[in-house]
Amino acid sequence: MKAIGIDLGTTNSAVAAHDPHRDDIAVLTNSKGDRLTPSVVGLARRDGKDQTLVGEDALRWAVRQPRETVVSVKRLMGRDFADRSVAQARERLSYEIVSGPDDDPRAHVLLGGRSRTPSEISSVILDKLVRDAARTLGEQVTHAVITVPAYFRDAQRAATREAAERAGLVVKKIIDEPTAAAVAFGLHKPGGARSRVLVYDLGGGTFDISVLNTVKDAEGNSQFQVLRSAGDIWLGGDDFDLAIVERIIAWMRDERGVDPSRDKEFLFQAKKAAEAAKRELNELSETYIVIPAAYHGPEGIVDVEMALTREEFQRMIAPLVTRTMDLVKETLTGYELTPDDISDVLLVGGGTLTRPVYEAVEAYFGGDKVRRNINPMECVAYGAGVLAETLNGVECPAPQCLKANEYTAEACADCGQSLVNARPVGSTGLFESTPMAMGIAAVKGARRDVFVPIIPAGSPFPLPEPRTRTFHATDSRLIRVPVYEGDSHVASENDEQGVVEFELPQEIEINRHVDVSFNYSADRIITVRVSVRGTDMALEATPRRDKPRTPPPETEREVDSAVLREELGLAEREAQHFLKRYGPYIEHTQELKVRRDITQAQRAVEMGDSGEYQRLTELLLDDMYHQCGLASQFRQAELASDGAPLETVKAISEAVEQVKSAHRNGNRIQTAEQAKNLRSMIAVAYSERAVPSLPSKRDYDGILQVPDDMAGG
Ligand SMILES: Nc1ncnc2c1ncn2[C@@H]1O[C@H](COP(=O)(O)OP(=O)(O)OP(=O)(O)O)[C@@H](O)[C@H]1O
Ligand SMILES: [Mg+2]
Repeated sequence: MKAIGIDLGTTNSAVAAHDPHRDDIAVLTNSKGDRLTPSVVGLARRDGKDQTLVGEDALRWAVRQPRETVVSVKRLMGRDFADRSVAQARERLSYEIVSGPDDDPRAHVLLGGRSRTPSEISSVILDKLVRDAARTLGEQVTHAVITVPAYFRDAQRAATREAAERAGLVVKKIIDEPTAAAVAFGLHKPGGARSRVLVYDLGGGTFDISVLNTVKDAEGNSQFQVLRSAGDIWLGGDDFDLAIVERIIAWMRDERGVDPSRDKEFLFQAKKAAEAAKRELNELSETYIVIPAAYHGPEGIVDVEMALTREEFQRMIAPLVTRTMDLVKETLTGYELTPDDISDVLLVGGGTLTRPVYEAVEAYFGGDKVRRNINPMECVAYGAGVLAETLNGVECPAPQCLKANEYTAEACADCGQSLVNARPVGSTGLFESTPMAMGIAAVKGARRDVFVPIIPAGSPFPLPEPRTRTFHATDSRLIRVPVYEGDSHVASENDEQGVVEFELPQEIEINRHVDVSFNYSADRIITVRVSVRGTDMALEATPRRDKPRTPPPETEREVDSAVLREELGLAEREAQHFLKRYGPYIEHTQELKVRRDITQAQRAVEMGDSGEYQRLTELLLDDMYHQCGLASQFRQAELASDGAPLETVKAISEAVEQVKSAHRNGNRIQTAEQAKNLRSMIAVAYSERAVPSLPSKRDYDGILQVPDDMAGG
């Protein structure tokens, strides 16, 4: 069993592992003798046969078959076809990106006429990295630690894990790139008074900033917590090259009178030459860009022979460098931090080798804080290599046991405890907490598309035990729980992780309480358990990412507008009656609101404003059943009593009388207590049997409803 660390980059990938001969972690060379392998997969058609090319070979073939060459597949990992970033990728990448077959919402890639998931493509890259590593190390590679950007959501991490498993690897851990970099720089070692680390990672095509907090464990080792990451997914060293290519094209126009801007072969050569020039200008104050026979056109064959000074280059890329520094400043301000609060700045990614880049970072933070003593293109892999070597299994979470088990074990070999929540252990610790809240979409009063967090942001994981919240089912036999990750109160503005759904069998009544529990493993896998109170109906599932996403609320199915108008009329009359009957128990401001909503409803009916029918109906029902304190409860009590067994009716009516009497006596505490009692009587009435549901509850395609006692939260 050999474990390696893999930096699966957008542009380049690298592998590091423990080298037994030197007894140290080393970045491995691939079959070409290079320490970096381009993250590129292509198909070459030769003699009518397709051959899959990976790495350098694929990159060289790219100019001939750009549509059959997949670059930057990392940008598509775990993303839906409908994502904005996928639309951007489609504009910029020359191969075909398509939606999945059947209802699969994930982005797919067309290669050789076949649609493949980004994970499949990544697994081809991983497979090559593993084969090359095995050859270099002279032993079979079975396990890996793989790095991903800190901003990767669960779906993207899961796609990365899937790619590794396809390539036959046991994944020891998926870790954040900045954390791996911090390990590579030795910041986890005891000693030193480091507190806060900023990682400035400028790769080929992406720019990431992360701020890490260090937490000391009992042995004095630092463990890292990624506070937050920011950046620009479309800014990197490639943009510097493209700025030079623009300059070369201008030179060809001005000095040679030809326009090569549409010549693919020319652009490919120019980009390569530009990249070389960029590197030279780190050392030299001036360089010559020479491309013999760069352009073949009706004008003949034309060479490029152009001088470029460091000063010119610096001016050309200044706006890009400034942009990275602006993002750094914004990130710090967002945390109310100043440069003085940062103890170490790590330069990561090949882009930081560009002189104007590291000079700008040093000028801002002070040269003594900026660390670039490790090759920035290799340090992420190196850190992953350290962890691959030092993580040695998962620890049984039972406090009396703590046995280290194999990664693949499902239960502890000693005590049989489930290892779902087991934490990887080893001499290098890692402390992780959830960067964003995880929860579900629910209906709350008249509002739908409400995000209800179940695991709050910043929770250390693996969780010691699952977290649960209780909901109410709506009028449907279908129970549909869309799982989201994010920080917006509006569910659909967050990232949908997938959907858990099931049908209630006929023998179970609808309108029950439903408990939703989330568990979150060390591997960041969410397990959702949905159980129906008072029954043994329970379902445990990992959200399905290949199922259709929950449509945003606007696309609800059209209902006949005459029916909606009638419903609104009914609700309006009911609200009038409600005011008359429960007026004394309604606060003045609430009463004003109900009156205003009634007026609006009347106007909409008169004017035939069909677009407003549904919204206003829901508003009125929400007013009556949820927004008017005691009065709302009395109205709910009425409804719960309707058709209930005599005993329940009696109990509810007694409870109502007690609330009323406490209210008359002006005793607030007692009123609140009695009201609580009434609430639970109503809940009992609902869960005892299938009473007619609350009018504000509709069949929202099985989306759960936030119960009243949670309505404020
Ligand atoms: N000596 C150098 N001077 C300037 N730039 C360099 C140098 N060496 C490499 N680069 C640039 O570094 C970039 C590649 O960096 P790196 O390998 O870190 O990217 P990556 O990690 O694959 O990409 P990403 O971080 O976007 O996923 C390229 O733009 C390359 O031109
Ligand atoms: Mg990188």
